[in-house]
Amino acid sequence: MRLSLLTSLPLLGLAAAEDGLQAWLRYAPVPSANSIVLPTAIRALNATSGSPVYTAQQELQRGISGIFGKQLGTNGSTTANSSSLIIGTLDAYESLHGALEGAADLQDDGFYLSASGQSVTIVGRNERGALYGAFEYLSRLAQGQNVTTTTISNPQVPIRWTNEWDNMDGSIERGYAGSSLFFRNGYAVDNVTRVAEYARLLASLRINGMIVNNVNANATLLNDRNLEGLGRLADAMRPYGIQLGISLNFASPRDFGGLNSFDPLDPKVDAWWANVTNVIYSKVPDMAGYLVKANSEGQPGPLTYNRTLADGANMFARAVNPHGGLIMFRAFVYDNHINETNWTADRANAAVDFFQHLDGKFDENVVVQIKYGPIDFQVREPPNPLFSTLRNTSTSIELQITPEYLGQNDHLMYLGPLWKEILEADLRADSQPSKVKDIVSGQRFKRPLGGYAGVSGVGANTTWLGSHLAMSNLYAYGRLAWDASQDAEEVLQDWIRLTFGFDQQVMDTITDMSMKSWPAYENYSGNLGIQTLTDITYTHFGPNPASQDNNGWGQWTRADKDTIGMDRTVKNGTGNAGQYSFEVAQMYENIETTPDNLLLWFHHVPYTQRLKSNKTVIQHFYDAHYEGAATAQQFVQQWQSLKGKIDAERFESVLFEQTFQAGHALVWRDSISEFYHNLSEIADENNRVGNHPWRIEAEKMTLSGYKPYAVSPFHTASGAMAIVTTSNITAGTATANVTFETGTYDIAVNYFDLIGGRSTYQLDLGNQTVGRWVGNHEDTLGHAPSTYLDGHSATRITFKGIDVRQGEVLRITGQPDGIEPAPLDYISFLPPGIVD
Ligand code: GCU
Repeated sequence: MRLSLLTSLPLLGLAAAEDGLQAWLRYAPVPSANSIVLPTAIRALNATSGSPVYTAQQELQRGISGIFGKQLGTNGSTTANSSSLIIGTLDAYESLHGALEGAADLQDDGFYLSASGQSVTIVGRNERGALYGAFEYLSRLAQGQNVTTTTISNPQVPIRWTNEWDNMDGSIERGYAGSSLFFRNGYAVDNVTRVAEYARLLASLRINGMIVNNVNANATLLNDRNLEGLGRLADAMRPYGIQLGISLNFASPRDFGGLNSFDPLDPKVDAWWANVTNVIYSKVPDMAGYLVKANSEGQPGPLTYNRTLADGANMFARAVNPHGGLIMFRAFVYDNHINETNWTADRANAAVDFFQHLDGKFDENVVVQIKYGPIDFQVREPPNPLFSTLRNTSTSIELQITPEYLGQNDHLMYLGPLWKEILEADLRADSQPSKVKDIVSGQRFKRPLGGYAGVSGVGANTTWLGSHLAMSNLYAYGRLAWDASQDAEEVLQDWIRLTFGFDQQVMDTITDMSMKSWPAYENYSGNLGIQTLTDITYTHFGPNPASQDNNGWGQWTRADKDTIGMDRTVKNGTGNAGQYSFEVAQMYENIETTPDNLLLWFHHVPYTQRLKSNKTVIQHFYDAHYEGAATAQQFVQQWQSLKGKIDAERFESVLFEQTFQAGHALVWRDSISEFYHNLSEIADENNRVGNHPWRIEAEKMTLSGYKPYAVSPFHTASGAMAIVTTSNITAGTATANVTFETGTYDIAVNYFDLIGGRSTYQLDLGNQTVGRWVGNHEDTLGHAPSTYLDGHSATRITFKGIDVRQGEVLRITGQPDGIEPAPLDYISFLPPGIVD
């Protein structure tokens, strides 16, 4: 009986569980399948296994089988067949069929896709282009479209790469989705199955290169075993048209090669790199090139020898040039020991300061890779002024898909709109239109090279990025790198259709949540261009505004009792505004013309400064934090409304994340509001900040086996205090009499979930056990929160619709585990509609 019930479930129409591994390449059946005209066979013009055209043929068979349940055979004949899909390179096609009308416009990696009835033609300028055309055809079919027109699509940029920050030990810098796909225990992996699956995903986005190791590079990548391993990784990626590249450690000649120097002008060093490069190309004949982080954050570089950054870049350029390789040289060079007592010191000036005088001095196969903003992937930055400074140097833009400063994939964050804002920004070089997207495409300054680097963060987790919804970012990255003029919301909606299907409510809800996600996060993490107010010297996750200042990292806010913001004007400040072209510089120089959302990036003002909205800066801070956190609460309800419309596995996984975010958004809200309230002593006009009528503070309860604990930073605990168990073995209890009126409440418990222990908790009201839970975020979040009670570990669990009687005893029992002393902050009794 039981068995037959289970086996009949799919017939009831319940969506099958999905673990995310297929991402947007699920090839799920489409409702309009019957009206879609399909070819009867596929004729691939290159049948060599491992060629991208062969890959395309296999992908077409797989996709059409998934979407339509039809197995397309292959047609080996060279004669045209009116019901076949023909796929190949332009040369192969034209040698069989003569000139293809319209195809003269095809550029490298571009494709031609045309369908008429059952006859489909997919032609690439090269093999890669043909594969892209196949993915485009499949993407349209998977979105329920009949392909009836002719499309010619060319890339706007030649360089469309991901940067993987994977370490040799298998960890991933700023990765939130498990271990590396490429390395384990010091070596490249043997099993490349996931590498090939990843390459497939990226090929469908028309990504053509991948740097496989961390920019903070380890020279052991160059040992014999790893060079063999790189060959294996490249072999797994080649069928998908993705070229492998690597990050290098500048000091390798000394630290790995046994030379006594790594001076780029030392002939021995030059010869060493030439030799290593030749060996690498013998293993990876199509290696894309090298990525170099030099003289940044403690990494070695040419400045050690008083050589210029161009000297360093050109040394590598000479080594790869005979092989057709590229050097991506990062502009992320800055001194992380600058002095905040110097009013004119400014990390944001570093890129222009270090690179401006080198313009034109880089070899032609060097591309300077520039992070989108002048600091470091903050929630809002102006475009990096270096984009409009370098006129005789090829440049690319570095975007971060893995949201290091933006919630680490435990907060919803669709990055398409943020990237679009930067790409569409007009830097007005020489008072001419100079959009960032046109600069990095090479078009504006007539450079031969240019493109995109996306810091990916994918790991072994089946969701790839640690969150199903975060995959919209990988998708949007590829789409925008191909054509930056696309609309971020339309791109998102293609991804939703491919990932979650055709239900309109699903479409509307995920669109709404995603499009609200960046503004919401900005609202509760750092407004008006003050940056993400996170802990910059620790995990970059939770709130800690004080950590920005009084250190050499230069992510300063210069907040004091009365004023806040960086004065980056030319007239009074660091001069950073003057690094932009005239019109943009004028805009940022003046408070009146600086957009509110960058006010504190460019100006140091009193908290009472009026914005264009007529609010004061401080009131805007308070209001934005409450508004952003309120939006995060709505995400939970919005997602819950999709129950039954999304398979249970993905539904539950996202529900967990949204619930976490809703709690953590309140931690952010209270923490930042409290910090500036305490500093400025200016009250919230709406009397919310510091006023929490529905809370019972744990430290005010009757404690047994628990003791009060002063949390640091103070503003990450309600009332600055929490409680921890007095021993790390014995359970503690905290009790209080409920003073709220009898009624139905949601009961929220704020506690701290540290790495290094899985404490267990029980919440009782009178004789009733309301709930039990475990502090196990080290297992359930994609990243390790913190070993301390702070804004990273602070979190909330909510029990809904609990009947409460005034006067009954509230009791929490906490059982410590490991280093985690079952820490508790407060308990809120929330009547309907109240968030506290
Ligand atoms: C940030 C990030 C580092 C990274 C660096 C870089 O500072 O926190 O982990 O190494 O950027 O881009 O090089």
